[in-house]
Parts: sequence; structure tokens; C-alpha cells
Amino acid sequence: MAMRNIREEGDSILLKHCRPVTDFNRRLHVLLDDMRDTLLDADGVGLAAPQVGVLRRAVLVMDTNREDLSPEEQIIELVNPEIIETEGEQEGKEGCLSVPGVYGIVKRPERVRVRAQDRFGKWFEAEGTGLTARCFCHELDHLDGHLFTERAERFLTQEELEEMNREQ
Ligand code: NI
Repeated sequence: MAMRNIREEGDSILLKHCRPVTDFNRRLHVLLDDMRDTLLDADGVGLAAPQVGVLRRAVLVMDTNREDLSPEEQIIELVNPEIIETEGEQEGKEGCLSVPGVYGIVKRPERVRVRAQDRFGKWFEAEGTGLTARCFCHELDHLDGHLFTERAERFLTQEELEEMNREQ
């Protein structure tokens, strides 16, 4: 296992469309393990393969609603994920490990259901509300070359960010 470099906005790899994963081999497992290490180290809530320079449809999402689990256990690995159902709407703060220090207000569905393959190729479904639903949408956007900065209604000012940090 190893840490990988997180690509930042301005790197054209973040704007590219990712290809489906077809081989559920050791190479994929090493990628997912490295992504896990990188995500936990960066203290994020999600990470997509293109953010570590790999143009394949694989993401990690932390199910932060599961407070009974450790951060490591909260990680859901999603290979070739697709959104199959959404419900409601939420508006809230969003950021990205590839756009450090920038936060915007983004509208997302309140509840999202996804279908994906696990690291062995087995299909499964997962569902999230609130931050987890937001995260599913955000990470899947990365696979099609979209950053949250395109979707933000507005960006938070330094003052607002300081205010939020004080409240935490
Ligand atoms: Ni992101």
C-alpha cells in the first residue's frame, strides 16, 4: 500500500472522461488500496481514480452516516458506479481534495441510490442521504471530468469559512 499524489485543479486529467474497469485484477486492488490510504491520509470523504491520475471508473465514498464505524470501515468502494435513483434536494457546502481551500454551495439530491461493482466484479447497490448522497454525486461527476466548481451556485468567502470552522 502506498500514498498517491492528488492531482489539483488545472491538471487536465481531471477534465477527462474515464473508461470502465474491465479487469478485476491485482492492479485494480492495488489502486483501490492506495486510494484508501490516500483518502484517509487527506482526511477527505471521497476520492475518485482520476484524482490520483488513473482514468478508470472507480471511486471511494465514505458513509459518514455510519458513526458506529471507523473511518476505514466507512469507505465504500464503487467500481463502474451509476446513479439509479435520486430523491429530494439539498443545498450545502461542498469542497474537493483537488481544489484545496475552496468551498461552494452546491445543490444535490437528498437521497441517492447507486449500483456498482465491488473489487471482485460483483454488482451491488448502496444508498446514502445527506453528505453521503452529496458525495456519491460529487465522486461520480469526477468520472466524467466534472468538478464541483462548475456546479457551485456561489463560493464561500474567507469570512464565511472562518465562521464555519469556529462552529465546528
Ligand atoms: Ni472531488
